[in-house]
Amino acid sequence: AHQWRGVIREYADRLDVSEATPVITLGEGGTPLIPADALSKRTGAQVWVKYEGMNPTGSFKDRGMTMAISKAVEHGAKAVICASTGNTSASAAAYATHAGITAAVLVPEGKIAMGKLSQAIAHNAELLQVQGNFDDCLDIARDLAKNYPVHLVNSVNPDRIEGQKTAAYEVVEVLEDAPDFHFIPVGNAGNYTAYHRGYREELDRGIAKTLPRMFGFQAAGSAPLVLGAPVRNPETIASAIRIGNPASWDLALAARDDSDGYFGAISDEHILLAHRILSAEVGIFVEPASAISVAGLLERAEAGAIPKGSRVVLTVTGHGLKDPQWALRTADGADITPTVVPVDTAAIADVLGLVAAP
Ligand code: F0G
Repeated sequence: AHQWRGVIREYADRLDVSEATPVITLGEGGTPLIPADALSKRTGAQVWVKYEGMNPTGSFKDRGMTMAISKAVEHGAKAVICASTGNTSASAAAYATHAGITAAVLVPEGKIAMGKLSQAIAHNAELLQVQGNFDDCLDIARDLAKNYPVHLVNSVNPDRIEGQKTAAYEVVEVLEDAPDFHFIPVGNAGNYTAYHRGYREELDRGIAKTLPRMFGFQAAGSAPLVLGAPVRNPETIASAIRIGNPASWDLALAARDDSDGYFGAISDEHILLAHRILSAEVGIFVEPASAISVAGLLERAEAGAIPKGSRVVLTVTGHGLKDPQWALRTADGADITPTVVPVDTAAIADVLGLVAAP
Protein backbone atom coordinates (compact mmCIF):
# COMPACT_ATOMS: atom_id res chain seq x y z
CA ALA A 1 0.00 0.00 0.00
CA HIS A 2 1.06 3.55 -0.71
CA GLN A 3 1.50 6.41 1.66
CA TRP A 4 2.21 10.07 0.85
CA ARG A 5 6.00 10.34 0.45
CA GLY A 6 6.63 13.94 1.54
CA VAL A 7 7.02 16.96 -0.72
CA ILE A 8 10.52 16.24 -2.06
CA ARG A 9 9.66 12.78 -3.39
CA GLU A 10 6.18 13.82 -4.55
CA TYR A 11 7.52 16.83 -6.49
CA ALA A 12 11.15 15.86 -7.17
CA ASP A 13 10.92 16.92 -10.82
CA ARG A 14 9.94 20.45 -9.79
CA LEU A 15 12.43 21.07 -6.97
CA ASP A 16 16.18 21.69 -6.99
CA VAL A 17 17.16 18.20 -5.84
CA SER A 18 19.26 15.45 -7.43
CA GLU A 19 20.31 11.88 -6.79
CA ALA A 20 22.94 13.33 -4.44
CA THR A 21 20.34 14.98 -2.20
CA PRO A 22 19.53 12.92 0.91
CA VAL A 23 15.78 13.12 1.46
CA ILE A 24 15.11 14.14 5.06
CA THR A 25 11.35 13.83 5.44
CA LEU A 26 8.68 13.30 8.09
CA GLY A 27 5.96 12.93 5.45
CA GLU A 28 5.03 16.62 5.22
CA GLY A 29 2.55 18.02 2.68
CA GLY A 30 -0.54 16.37 1.22
CA THR A 31 -2.68 18.38 3.63
CA PRO A 32 -6.47 18.58 3.30
CA LEU A 33 -8.25 21.30 1.31
CA ILE A 34 -11.54 21.54 3.19
CA PRO A 35 -14.74 23.12 1.78
CA ALA A 36 -15.94 25.63 4.40
CA ASP A 37 -19.71 25.97 3.90
CA ALA A 38 -20.13 28.28 6.89
CA LEU A 39 -17.66 30.76 5.37
CA SER A 40 -19.21 30.40 1.90
CA LYS A 41 -22.62 31.26 3.40
CA ARG A 42 -21.22 34.28 5.23
CA THR A 43 -19.44 35.70 2.16
CA GLY A 44 -21.23 34.48 -0.97
CA ALA A 45 -17.91 33.11 -2.25
CA GLN A 46 -16.93 29.42 -2.61
CA VAL A 47 -14.46 28.97 0.21
CA TRP A 48 -11.91 26.22 0.88
CA VAL A 49 -9.44 26.03 3.77
CA LYS A 50 -5.93 24.60 3.24
CA TYR A 51 -5.27 23.13 6.67
CA GLU A 52 -1.50 23.32 7.15
CA GLY A 53 -1.79 22.44 10.83
CA MET A 54 -1.98 18.84 9.55
CA ASN A 55 1.76 18.78 8.77
CA PRO A 56 4.02 16.58 10.98
CA THR A 57 5.02 19.35 13.41
CA GLY A 58 1.69 21.16 13.06
CA SER A 59 2.61 23.98 10.69
CA PHE A 60 3.40 24.77 7.04
CA LYS A 61 7.07 25.24 7.96
CA ASP A 62 7.65 21.51 7.43
CA ARG A 63 7.30 21.87 3.63
CA GLY A 64 10.22 24.27 3.57
CA MET A 65 12.19 22.54 6.30
CA THR A 66 12.36 19.18 4.49
CA MET A 67 14.09 21.04 1.63
CA ALA A 68 16.30 23.26 3.82
CA ILE A 69 17.55 20.40 6.01
CA SER A 70 18.01 17.98 3.09
CA LYS A 71 20.08 20.58 1.20
CA ALA A 72 22.03 21.48 4.35
CA VAL A 73 22.95 17.82 4.86
CA GLU A 74 23.82 17.50 1.15
CA HIS A 75 26.26 20.38 1.65
CA GLY A 76 27.77 18.72 4.70
CA ALA A 77 26.24 20.89 7.43
CA LYS A 78 26.49 19.49 10.96
CA ALA A 79 24.42 22.27 12.53
CA VAL A 80 21.63 24.58 11.47
CA ILE A 81 20.39 27.80 13.01
CA CYS A 82 17.17 29.80 12.87
CA ALA A 83 15.37 32.68 14.51
CA SER A 84 11.75 31.93 15.28
CA THR A 85 8.42 33.01 16.69
CA GLY A 86 8.00 29.29 17.45
CA ASN A 87 6.89 27.21 14.49
CA THR A 88 10.14 27.40 12.55
CA SER A 89 12.03 26.36 15.69
CA ALA A 90 9.78 23.32 16.22
CA SER A 91 10.14 22.29 12.58
CA ALA A 92 13.91 22.88 12.37
CA ALA A 93 14.40 20.91 15.58
CA ALA A 94 12.35 17.94 14.35
CA TYR A 95 13.96 17.71 10.90
CA ALA A 96 17.50 18.30 12.20
CA THR A 97 17.20 15.62 14.85
CA HIS A 98 15.71 13.24 12.24
CA ALA A 99 18.80 13.91 10.10
CA GLY A 100 21.15 13.43 13.05
CA ILE A 101 22.41 17.02 13.09
CA THR A 102 22.08 19.85 15.62
CA ALA A 103 19.54 22.69 15.54
CA ALA A 104 20.24 25.93 17.37
CA VAL A 105 17.23 28.20 17.68
CA LEU A 106 16.88 31.80 18.83
CA VAL A 107 13.46 32.85 20.12
CA PRO A 108 12.26 36.11 21.68
CA GLU A 109 12.23 35.64 25.46
CA GLY A 110 8.78 34.81 26.85
CA LYS A 111 7.10 35.57 23.52
CA ILE A 112 6.45 32.19 21.91
CA ALA A 113 3.56 29.81 22.53
CA MET A 114 4.09 26.98 25.03
CA GLY A 115 3.33 24.20 22.55
CA LYS A 116 6.05 25.40 20.19
CA LEU A 117 8.65 25.86 22.94
CA SER A 118 7.84 22.39 24.18
CA GLN A 119 8.25 20.88 20.68
CA ALA A 120 11.65 22.47 20.07
CA ILE A 121 12.95 21.24 23.42
CA ALA A 122 11.45 17.78 22.93
CA HIS A 123 13.31 17.51 19.61
CA ASN A 124 16.67 18.33 21.23
CA ALA A 125 17.10 21.86 19.96
CA GLU A 126 19.76 24.07 21.48
CA LEU A 127 17.10 26.68 22.32
CA LEU A 128 18.11 30.14 23.52
CA GLN A 129 15.65 32.82 24.62
CA VAL A 130 17.01 36.14 23.39
CA GLN A 131 16.24 39.32 25.34
CA GLY A 132 14.86 41.03 22.26
CA ASN A 133 12.17 40.59 19.61
CA PHE A 134 12.01 38.31 16.54
CA ASP A 135 13.71 40.84 14.29
CA ASP A 136 16.70 40.97 16.70
CA CYS A 137 16.84 37.16 16.66
CA LEU A 138 16.91 37.06 12.85
CA ASP A 139 19.70 39.65 12.66
CA ILE A 140 21.82 37.54 15.01
CA ALA A 141 21.02 34.25 13.25
CA ARG A 142 22.14 35.79 9.93
CA ASP A 143 25.32 37.09 11.57
CA LEU A 144 26.12 33.69 13.06
CA ALA A 145 25.52 31.90 9.74
CA LYS A 146 27.81 34.35 7.97
CA ASN A 147 30.70 34.01 10.43
CA TYR A 148 30.40 30.54 11.99
CA PRO A 149 29.89 26.98 10.69
CA VAL A 150 26.08 26.95 11.05
CA HIS A 151 23.63 26.76 8.15
CA LEU A 152 20.71 29.25 8.19
CA VAL A 153 17.24 27.68 7.74
CA ASN A 154 15.02 30.75 8.01
CA SER A 155 12.97 31.61 4.90
CA VAL A 156 15.76 33.91 3.66
CA ASN A 157 17.21 30.53 2.66
CA PRO A 158 15.74 30.01 -0.86
CA ASP A 159 15.31 26.26 -0.26
CA ARG A 160 12.57 27.09 2.26
CA ILE A 161 10.44 29.04 -0.23
CA GLU A 162 10.96 26.32 -2.85
CA GLY A 163 9.60 23.64 -0.51
CA GLN A 164 6.67 25.81 0.57
CA LYS A 165 5.51 26.52 -3.00
CA THR A 166 4.29 22.89 -3.20
CA ALA A 167 1.17 23.85 -1.22
CA ALA A 168 -0.03 25.83 -4.26
CA TYR A 169 0.53 22.78 -6.48
CA GLU A 170 -1.72 20.76 -4.18
CA VAL A 171 -4.49 23.37 -4.31
CA VAL A 172 -4.42 23.43 -8.13
CA GLU A 173 -4.47 19.64 -8.24
CA VAL A 174 -7.61 19.45 -6.09
CA LEU A 175 -9.52 22.35 -7.68
CA GLU A 176 -8.25 21.47 -11.18
CA ASP A 177 -7.38 25.17 -11.54
CA ALA A 178 -6.11 27.98 -9.34
CA PRO A 179 -8.68 29.82 -7.21
CA ASP A 180 -9.60 33.46 -7.90
CA PHE A 181 -8.28 34.65 -4.53
CA HIS A 182 -5.78 33.26 -2.05
CA PHE A 183 -5.85 34.57 1.53
CA ILE A 184 -2.83 34.04 3.77
CA PRO A 185 -1.24 35.33 7.02
CA VAL A 186 1.94 37.38 6.59
CA GLY A 187 4.91 37.67 8.95
CA ASN A 188 8.21 37.54 7.08
CA ALA A 189 6.15 37.16 3.88
CA GLY A 190 8.02 34.01 2.87
CA ASN A 191 4.88 31.90 2.56
CA TYR A 192 3.02 34.61 0.63
CA THR A 193 5.97 34.62 -1.78
CA ALA A 194 6.01 30.81 -1.95
CA TYR A 195 2.31 30.37 -2.84
CA HIS A 196 2.58 33.03 -5.52
CA ARG A 197 5.57 31.22 -7.01
CA GLY A 198 3.75 27.87 -6.99
CA TYR A 199 0.67 29.36 -8.67
CA ARG A 200 2.79 31.29 -11.20
CA GLU A 201 4.53 28.05 -12.21
CA GLU A 202 1.18 26.28 -12.62
CA LEU A 203 -0.05 29.08 -14.88
CA ASP A 204 3.14 29.09 -16.96
CA ARG A 205 2.96 25.29 -17.37
CA GLY A 206 -0.62 25.61 -18.58
CA ILE A 207 -1.97 23.50 -15.70
CA ALA A 208 -3.89 26.46 -14.23
CA LYS A 209 -5.80 29.02 -16.29
CA THR A 210 -5.62 31.88 -13.78
CA LEU A 211 -3.22 33.44 -11.30
CA PRO A 212 -4.98 33.97 -7.97
CA ARG A 213 -4.97 37.43 -6.46
CA MET A 214 -2.71 37.05 -3.41
CA PHE A 215 -4.34 38.68 -0.35
CA GLY A 216 -1.97 38.81 2.65
CA PHE A 217 -2.86 39.93 6.17
CA GLN A 218 -0.82 41.27 9.07
CA ALA A 219 -1.93 42.08 12.61
CA ALA A 220 -2.74 45.78 13.01
CA GLY A 221 0.00 46.29 15.63
CA SER A 222 2.52 44.53 13.43
CA ALA A 223 1.76 45.59 9.86
CA PRO A 224 4.91 46.93 8.18
CA LEU A 225 3.83 45.90 4.66
CA VAL A 226 0.57 47.81 5.07
CA LEU A 227 2.27 50.86 6.58
CA GLY A 228 5.13 50.74 4.06
CA ALA A 229 7.80 50.94 6.76
CA PRO A 230 9.32 48.64 9.42
CA VAL A 231 7.60 48.60 12.84
CA ARG A 232 10.10 48.90 15.68
CA ASN A 233 8.04 47.34 18.49
CA PRO A 234 5.46 45.06 16.84
CA GLU A 235 2.57 43.97 19.09
CA THR A 236 -0.25 41.44 18.62
CA ILE A 237 -1.71 38.41 20.37
CA ALA A 238 -0.85 36.49 17.16
CA SER A 239 2.69 35.77 18.35
CA ALA A 240 3.64 33.80 15.21
CA ILE A 241 3.41 36.94 13.07
CA ARG A 242 4.75 39.49 15.57
CA ILE A 243 7.37 40.66 13.06
CA GLY A 244 8.31 44.28 12.36
CA ASN A 245 10.74 43.93 9.47
CA PRO A 246 9.75 41.13 7.05
CA ALA A 247 12.72 39.30 5.55
CA SER A 248 10.99 38.70 2.19
CA TRP A 249 9.75 42.29 1.81
CA ASP A 250 10.87 42.83 -1.81
CA LEU A 251 9.80 39.38 -3.00
CA ALA A 252 6.38 39.91 -1.43
CA LEU A 253 5.86 43.27 -3.16
CA ALA A 254 6.79 41.68 -6.48
CA ALA A 255 4.31 38.84 -5.84
CA ARG A 256 1.58 41.33 -4.93
CA ASP A 257 2.17 43.37 -8.09
CA ASP A 258 2.29 40.30 -10.35
CA SER A 259 -1.00 38.96 -8.94
CA ASP A 260 -2.94 42.22 -8.50
CA GLY A 261 -2.75 41.37 -4.81
CA TYR A 262 -3.33 43.17 -1.55
CA PHE A 263 -1.98 43.58 1.98
CA GLY A 264 -4.40 44.36 4.80
CA ALA A 265 -4.24 44.82 8.58
CA ILE A 266 -6.61 43.18 11.08
CA SER A 267 -7.16 44.05 14.75
CA ASP A 268 -6.52 41.44 17.45
CA GLU A 269 -10.22 41.58 18.30
CA HIS A 270 -11.17 40.55 14.75
CA ILE A 271 -8.48 37.86 14.69
CA LEU A 272 -10.04 36.29 17.79
CA LEU A 273 -13.55 36.62 16.38
CA ALA A 274 -12.43 34.78 13.21
CA HIS A 275 -10.66 32.17 15.37
CA ARG A 276 -14.00 31.48 17.09
CA ILE A 277 -15.95 31.30 13.81
CA LEU A 278 -13.47 28.85 12.29
CA SER A 279 -13.47 26.54 15.29
CA ALA A 280 -17.17 26.81 16.21
CA GLU A 281 -18.73 26.85 12.72
CA VAL A 282 -16.27 25.06 10.43
CA GLY A 283 -14.62 22.63 12.88
CA ILE A 284 -11.03 23.66 12.20
CA PHE A 285 -8.79 24.56 15.16
CA VAL A 286 -5.89 26.92 14.48
CA GLU A 287 -3.54 29.23 16.31
CA PRO A 288 -4.48 32.95 16.27
CA ALA A 289 -2.05 33.93 13.48
CA SER A 290 -3.77 31.46 11.15
CA ALA A 291 -7.23 32.87 11.88
CA ILE A 292 -6.18 36.13 10.24
CA SER A 293 -6.88 34.53 6.82
CA VAL A 294 -10.50 34.10 7.86
CA ALA A 295 -10.67 37.60 9.35
CA GLY A 296 -9.19 38.99 6.15
CA LEU A 297 -11.81 37.25 4.01
CA LEU A 298 -14.69 38.47 6.20
CA GLU A 299 -13.33 42.02 6.09
CA ARG A 300 -12.78 42.05 2.30
CA ALA A 301 -16.18 40.44 1.62
CA GLU A 302 -17.82 43.06 3.84
CA ALA A 303 -15.98 45.76 1.87
CA GLY A 304 -17.47 44.40 -1.36
CA ALA A 305 -14.08 43.37 -2.75
CA ILE A 306 -14.97 39.68 -3.34
CA PRO A 307 -17.48 39.07 -6.16
CA LYS A 308 -20.21 36.48 -5.37
CA GLY A 309 -19.26 32.99 -6.45
CA SER A 310 -15.50 33.69 -6.44
CA ARG A 311 -13.34 30.67 -5.69
CA VAL A 312 -11.40 31.48 -2.54
CA VAL A 313 -8.71 29.48 -0.74
CA LEU A 314 -7.58 30.39 2.77
CA THR A 315 -4.34 28.99 4.13
CA VAL A 316 -4.45 28.34 7.85
CA THR A 317 -0.83 27.93 8.80
CA GLY A 318 -0.58 26.39 12.28
CA HIS A 319 -2.51 23.95 14.48
CA GLY A 320 -4.68 25.22 17.34
CA LEU A 321 -3.08 22.84 19.84
CA LYS A 322 0.17 24.82 19.68
CA ASP A 323 -1.46 27.78 21.45
CA PRO A 324 -4.79 26.52 22.80
CA GLN A 325 -5.57 29.10 25.49
CA TRP A 326 -7.54 31.41 23.18
CA ALA A 327 -10.59 29.14 22.98
CA LEU A 328 -11.03 29.32 26.75
CA ARG A 329 -12.20 32.90 26.92
CA THR A 330 -15.27 34.77 25.70
CA ALA A 331 -15.31 37.66 23.23
CA ASP A 332 -15.21 40.02 26.24
CA GLY A 333 -12.13 38.32 27.67
CA ALA A 334 -13.85 36.42 30.50
CA ASP A 335 -12.51 32.94 31.35
CA ILE A 336 -14.63 29.99 30.22
CA THR A 337 -14.82 27.30 32.90
CA PRO A 338 -16.77 24.14 32.05
CA THR A 339 -19.59 23.31 34.47
CA VAL A 340 -18.80 20.73 37.16
CA VAL A 341 -21.44 18.06 37.81
CA PRO A 342 -21.88 15.17 40.29
CA VAL A 343 -21.70 11.49 39.30
CA ASP A 344 -25.46 11.39 38.63
CA THR A 345 -27.20 10.69 35.32
CA ALA A 346 -30.39 12.57 36.15
CA ALA A 347 -28.49 15.64 37.33
CA ILE A 348 -26.35 15.66 34.16
CA ALA A 349 -29.39 15.19 31.92
CA ASP A 350 -30.95 18.13 33.71
CA VAL A 351 -27.90 20.37 33.10
CA LEU A 352 -27.90 19.29 29.43
CA GLY A 353 -31.61 20.14 29.14
CA LEU A 354 -32.48 16.55 28.18
CA VAL A 355 -35.96 15.19 28.86
CA ALA A 356 -36.25 11.40 29.35
CA ALA A 357 -37.89 9.51 26.46
CA PRO A 358 -41.41 8.31 27.49
N1 F0G B 1 1.47 31.62 10.40
C1 F0G B 1 2.20 30.98 11.32
C2 F0G B 1 1.50 30.01 12.20
C3 F0G B 1 3.59 31.21 11.41
O1 F0G B 1 4.29 30.57 12.33
C4 F0G B 1 4.19 32.15 10.55
C5 F0G B 1 5.61 32.45 10.65
C6 F0G B 1 3.38 32.79 9.61
C7 F0G B 1 2.03 32.51 9.56
C8 F0G B 1 3.91 33.79 8.65
O2 F0G B 1 4.66 33.20 7.63
O3 F0G B 1 6.74 34.47 7.95
O4 F0G B 1 6.31 33.19 5.85
O5 F0G B 1 5.04 35.28 6.36
N2 F0G B 1 6.35 32.01 11.58
C9 F0G B 1 7.81 32.17 11.63
C10 F0G B 1 8.38 31.30 12.73
C11 F0G B 1 8.27 33.56 11.67
O6 F0G B 1 9.46 31.60 13.26
O7 F0G B 1 7.79 30.28 13.06
P1 F0G B 1 5.77 34.08 6.89
